[in-house]
Amino acid sequence: MHRLMYPMRTYLIVSGKGEETNVMAADWVTILSHDPLMIGVAVSPRRYTHRLITKYNEFVVSVPSLDMLRDVWIAGTKSGPAKLKEMSITLVPSMKIETPSIHEALANIECRVVDNKEYGDHTFFVGEVVGWSHKREAFKDGKPNLKAKFLAHAAWTDFVTFEDKIYKTE
Ligand SMILES: Cc1cc2nc3c(=O)[nH]c(=O)nc-3n(C[C@H](O)[C@H](O)[C@H](O)COP(=O)(O)O)c2cc1C
Repeated sequence: MHRLMYPMRTYLIVSGKGEETNVMAADWVTILSHDPLMIGVAVSPRRYTHRLITKYNEFVVSVPSLDMLRDVWIAGTKSGPAKLKEMSITLVPSMKIETPSIHEALANIECRVVDNKEYGDHTFFVGEVVGWSHKREAFKDGKPNLKAKFLAHAAWTDFVTFEDKIYKTE
């Protein structure tokens, strides 16, 4: 039934630091507040990521492009930091937190956990955005550049991107 909410954007959640850095795929990510900017992500307690966010109280929401699909799939189907050896992403220091960012991502949004609550079989982690970085060509004039191939998830193995066409309301 949750697929009735799809297609949804897919993100990468980076957690931990150093040798213990981990990356998982996440669709269940949302903006909660504009000022201060707050973001929430629903993470199952079964994920290694859950353990790391709980331990360090921070995470990065990375925005992958379609070009990163192979890595997104590994991040979303394998568990624990060992999967990073199979992935071709480059971890780089974040601006404000110790959890690293992903160089290849279109944007990296750095969050400090301000709250968490269990809802059914997931924990909803709320993060306040304390730093960010982005690829200049992916966000032009304050808007996403659809040529950057933002990634969305349609069904389990099926992903899509946005057509490069804008429909104006007036
Ligand atoms: C496209 C995609 C989206 C996903 N979204 C979520 C999500 O929002 N929350 C979640 O807990 N798991 C989600 N998953 C599952 C985790 O990414 C997956 O279980 C992953 O292996 C967990 O890695 P970890 O154990 O290293 O943290 C998603 C998987 C895929 C492929």
